[in-house]
Amino acid sequence: MSSDGPTIRSLESEDRRFPPPDDFAASAVATAELYDRAAADPEAFWLEQAREILDWYTPPTVACDAANPPFFKWFTDGVLNASVNCLDRHLAARGDRVAFHWEGEPGERLDITYRDLHERVCRLANGLRARGIGKGDRVAIYLGMVPEAVVAILACARIGAPHTVVFGGFSPDSLRDRIIDCGCTALITADGSWRAGKVIPLKRNADAALESCPDVHTSVVVRRTESEIAWSEGRDVWYHELVADQPAECDPERMAAEDPLYILYTSGSTGKPKGILHTTGGYLTGVAATHRWCFDLKDDDVYWCAADVGWVTGHSYIVYGPLANGATSVLYEGAPSTPDKDRWWSIVARYGVTILYCAPTAIRSFMKWGTEYPERHDLSSIRLLGTVGEPINPEAWIWYRTHIGGERVPVVDTWWQTETGQIMISPLPGVTTLKPGSATRPLPGITADVVDARGESVPLGQGGYLVLRRPWPAMLRTLYGDDERYVDTYWSTYEGMYLAGDGARRDDDGDYWLLGRIDDVMNVSGHRLSTIEIESALVDHPLVAEAAVVGRADATTGQAIAAFVTLKGHATGDESIIAELRQHVATKIGAIARPKSIVLTDDLPKTRSGKIMRRLLRDISENRQLGDVTTLANEEVVQEIAGMAESARSSEGS
Ligand code: PRX
Repeated sequence: MSSDGPTIRSLESEDRRFPPPDDFAASAVATAELYDRAAADPEAFWLEQAREILDWYTPPTVACDAANPPFFKWFTDGVLNASVNCLDRHLAARGDRVAFHWEGEPGERLDITYRDLHERVCRLANGLRARGIGKGDRVAIYLGMVPEAVVAILACARIGAPHTVVFGGFSPDSLRDRIIDCGCTALITADGSWRAGKVIPLKRNADAALESCPDVHTSVVVRRTESEIAWSEGRDVWYHELVADQPAECDPERMAAEDPLYILYTSGSTGKPKGILHTTGGYLTGVAATHRWCFDLKDDDVYWCAADVGWVTGHSYIVYGPLANGATSVLYEGAPSTPDKDRWWSIVARYGVTILYCAPTAIRSFMKWGTEYPERHDLSSIRLLGTVGEPINPEAWIWYRTHIGGERVPVVDTWWQTETGQIMISPLPGVTTLKPGSATRPLPGITADVVDARGESVPLGQGGYLVLRRPWPAMLRTLYGDDERYVDTYWSTYEGMYLAGDGARRDDDGDYWLLGRIDDVMNVSGHRLSTIEIESALVDHPLVAEAAVVGRADATTGQAIAAFVTLKGHATGDESIIAELRQHVATKIGAIARPKSIVLTDDLPKTRSGKIMRRLLRDISENRQLGDVTTLANEEVVQEIAGMAESARSSEGS
């Protein structure tokens, strides 16, 4: 980041407005009064939330301890157990309530009540203790979307053993690196996991990883796909055998609020993933409160967060938030296209899902597939939609509201990160007037800002760097084993502010528009432009399903805009479409934003969680050797795009 560069220029305007429906507002869980209460004294507000929402052995009397910034602590004198908050305390009043409607990809269905879940968690927790695993020991979890994944997470929480969940799509090397970095002594995995009709060989991957992890003395194996697997006597133990004779009650560990709950790895700007450390009391307060507010959670809701438990969204909004709130959720194992592209909508109709939370990338896939799939099912149960993970372009937002939300329901665009633990910027659905593409406002108790390179707030209407000006309960406490990198990455750019790494703009009303990562910001002829705005303009064209834009080095203009575009329905394009798209962007945003090159492609390089890997597109655009591809899910498209980019470069327009 240069010290005196211009702030990010933001050129697009979006003027559609959606105030909350009257009946929704009238019975909303979160009301406008929360903002005032929080603003009056944010710390007292969070302390009140912590004491109100959670069950404590010893309720906290202090909010934030800022004695040693940026190593903030929350609720330090409180004592609690996360699994007790997610399970035990619901048993008396709602033990028979369904915690999860689980659906396996091949079609199995299972309803798991809070009582069932409690029993399963206790048995596994006892089983882990029987293997010598206890408070402070780190346990890796490498599973697909099976109920045992939730059970494993909560069993670790019950005995005070921090978990590190590794997404089931990661390779043996990635698993190994995380196990070693985290010093895990146990692993919970499965013989396999179903995805798009195929078995992901989790156990085989885990075996390969464990060859270099001599400290792992126990590998618990869930039987899921009945695949043939190798067995290491002494180390490996079947899950069903481990839990078979264990008691159905398990004495929970009493944890200090600041005891670690989990470590979750996420990629940073270097090749080495960062181990984000979350602790117990603040994290649970943050996720439980925001889950209620943002999703307007009511007793009869059926909530579905269609993320994977391997990502932070799964941790906070499949496991800890919803269970702390006693919610009924859906858990689906597999791909949205198996056996057909209407799988999600059949699930929504079957369980009467009322709240759906997913990523823009999923929505854009659905747009690409066409409306016939949602139209096959009755989606009228849906009353609220949410998105997370990337900026959502207004057209995808409108499509989601129209074709999934029946043109009647609020759509909450929630901004947050693995590091923040909880949702930070989001509408309150009964209060906020929605704008497609805007995450709107910081939640009550959260203080965000948009600053320039010197760290000064930029005026409304301008872009800059998103920062958080006050600590919040679910914030990361450090990077596991690397305090220095924690300070450097987040706290060293500006004094006393957390640097999120995203560009943002506040409009004249003060609403936030996320503009993508700082490293996705381009500088063309001295103008800074956000890749996402150009992507939005491209996706706004009726033929376009998905677009990714990167800046590539250019001798004349500094950077040039290179776009990669997938057309709807796999239509093939030609030069005239490319010319039309370039012109479309120029019309939407201005000539300055006209892409220098556009490559039409069947697919874009993505991570296994579905994020477009713009970094690789940048490498391709600049004709460089590809950087780290370990998280790339669809390697084959990269070669294809590289060839096309080459010919685009030689024939590009001005
Ligand atoms: O760039 C922002 C983007 O995702 C980043 C965080 O990624 P991760 O830690 O993997 O967590 C994803 C799930 C919380 C952010 O720095 N991001 C997340 N949500 C949004 C978003 N960008 C724009 N709008 C959002 N709603």
